[in-house]
Amino acid sequence: MSTAKKNYTRVTTHSLAEMKCNGEKISMLTAYDYTLAKIIDTGGIDVILVGDSASNVMAGHETTLPITLEQMIYHASSVVRAVERALVVVDMPFGSYQGNSKKALSSAIQIMKESGGHSIKLEGGEEIIESIKRILTAGIPVMGHLGLTPQSIYKFGTYTVRAKQEKEAQKLLADAKLLEEAGCFALVLEKVPAKLAQKVAESINIPVIGIGAGNGVDGQVLVLHDMLGMTHEFNPRFLRRYLNLYDEISGAVRNYVADVKSIEFPNNNEQY
Ligand code: KIV
Repeated sequence: MSTAKKNYTRVTTHSLAEMKCNGEKISMLTAYDYTLAKIIDTGGIDVILVGDSASNVMAGHETTLPITLEQMIYHASSVVRAVERALVVVDMPFGSYQGNSKKALSSAIQIMKESGGHSIKLEGGEEIIESIKRILTAGIPVMGHLGLTPQSIYKFGTYTVRAKQEKEAQKLLADAKLLEEAGCFALVLEKVPAKLAQKVAESINIPVIGIGAGNGVDGQVLVLHDMLGMTHEFNPRFLRRYLNLYDEISGAVRNYVADVKSIEFPNNNEQY
């Protein structure tokens, strides 16, 4: 059952601000290809994130670090061709924006020009604020990402919950305010205590979209392949699986193989 408070024929950054004001939760999922993007757009998702999790989900890398700008643009342009309603956010890959705001601007422009995406997302707070400010000067909408930021996995060492200690929680809150002041239109909070996430969402006016951050935030995001149950080795507490496609697909493949081997497929009606 939908609890949308207003019908949006096209979701924009302004629609998300309006949703927060109206108390309507924002729904966001990842997508990396045309076919699934079309299905989730038609299903009414508000925001589609072309996440750098494509590095794990699509390419089988252990981390998000290896994916390149060109590969992100390829995934994003496939998604954009499918989408009629959702706001498309494209992740800036590792190495395309850190430590050099001019490079960050040029990477962001390349993403917008070549993929047709509507906005970009990057990970970090104070340490990348110059890059964020410079990207914003080009009129490119920026979504922030704090908490567990997978591009920094080798700094963190593990994928466990972030900001459980007061010092890190204070830095996260300060970073969230900094991102809002700089002009970000929204913020992803990944794997942080629910109480802290709620405090952040209540302390800033831009929408806060959580993953493993509880239900006191303004919206939720999941990796599509995880929520569809296509991946089955990844079992964090925050993940709700809406389907078990791993078993469904492998069952279908087993049936197909059996039908081919036994010449059950194709039958007389399935040939010319
Ligand atoms: O890349 C990604 O999928 C993400 C989400 C986990 C928020 O950044």
